[in-house]
Amino acid sequence: MSGEAFLITGSMGCIGAWVLRNLVSEGATIVASDLATDPVRPGQLLSDEELARINFTRLDVTDRKAVVGMVADYGVTHIIHLAGLQVPFCRANPSVGAAVNVLGTVNIFEAAREHWGQVQGLAYASSLAVLGPSHLYETPVGDNVDRIPQTLYGVYKTANEETARIYWQDWRIPSIGLRPYIVYGVARDQGMTSDIAKAILATVAGRPYHIKFGGQVALQYADDVAKMFISCARSGYQGATACNLRNDVVDVADFVAALGAELPAAQVTYEAGNLLPFPADLDDSGLRGILGTIPHTSLRAAIRDSADRFAALLAERKVDLAQLN
Ligand SMILES: NC(=O)c1ccc[n+]([C@@H]2O[C@H](COP(=O)([O-])OP(=O)(O)OC[C@H]3O[C@@H](n4cnc5c(N)ncnc54)[C@H](O)[C@@H]3O)[C@@H](O)[C@H]2O)c1
Repeated sequence: MSGEAFLITGSMGCIGAWVLRNLVSEGATIVASDLATDPVRPGQLLSDEELARINFTRLDVTDRKAVVGMVADYGVTHIIHLAGLQVPFCRANPSVGAAVNVLGTVNIFEAAREHWGQVQGLAYASSLAVLGPSHLYETPVGDNVDRIPQTLYGVYKTANEETARIYWQDWRIPSIGLRPYIVYGVARDQGMTSDIAKAILATVAGRPYHIKFGGQVALQYADDVAKMFISCARSGYQGATACNLRNDVVDVADFVAALGAELPAAQVTYEAGNLLPFPADLDDSGLRGILGTIPHTSLRAAIRDSADRFAALLAERKVDLAQLN
């Protein structure tokens, strides 16, 4: 939409690349920021001509002055904050994890506060990792249950949700946090739960693959998640809320069966006894209440779309199979 200027942080990541892909056709000014500067993942989803329409810029979210300055310099109207370090990195480097995930998010809220009015919407990535193990909850699990994170990453995301609450309470800066579970699709090549996307890539590449977990999970196609972030930033929501995502709540066995039905050559196994420590049966009525309709590509259609994209990327040598090792 004309007049809009979107700042995306972490735009070289998986969800960021899909956000860019969705926004680029709309004519909005796009400021794609990241610590990384090589647009490998956006390049898997966008043509060179589309990439040329995006303002790529280096931004370290731990640098408050730089974050606030970027919002001013580009006349940013909407912020989608995705920059973050994932579970294994936060565990290995707790201080750096806190700097990026906690301080970085505070800096985003500071920039929104200093320029609210010009800035009209803020959506940020929380995570389902703010919740504890399934047996502690009644299902389906709502948005406002107790947060009992089991990892430092989850603790940092909990801090983000509480930061958002206080920015609304004290300064009336509204925001929506989204809590993805397993995001899958092209460009999902790192993180604890990237095995779902990697199983599709391996199959297209003619390789066997072993998914390192099993049990019930919630699968969310990256394109749908990107659309949710964009719609939340534009929603005009007043308040501070953090919303569960749901989409396909299935057993990993069901995913493997769907993959085999779409791609009969698939040789994918999974670790049935290794369950992820989060509830999957999630109530997404909070997000539904804000957006009305939730973007949801069916599992089979998403597998097919991913397989077609991976096949084209492999032919162009634009995807690195080392991620499967
Ligand atoms: N992918 C999932 O399944 C999932 C699930 C739950 C939550 N999330 C959250 O969603 C967000 C995006 O996820 P993703 O899968 O795209 O992650 P990703 O790891 O692919 O991308 C994160 C990006 O953040 C960037 N970054 C790291 N430190 C930075 C810094 N100091 N300043 C600026 N950028 C920095 C990285 O370079 C990377 O490009 C993250 O905050 C993640 O925690 C993702």
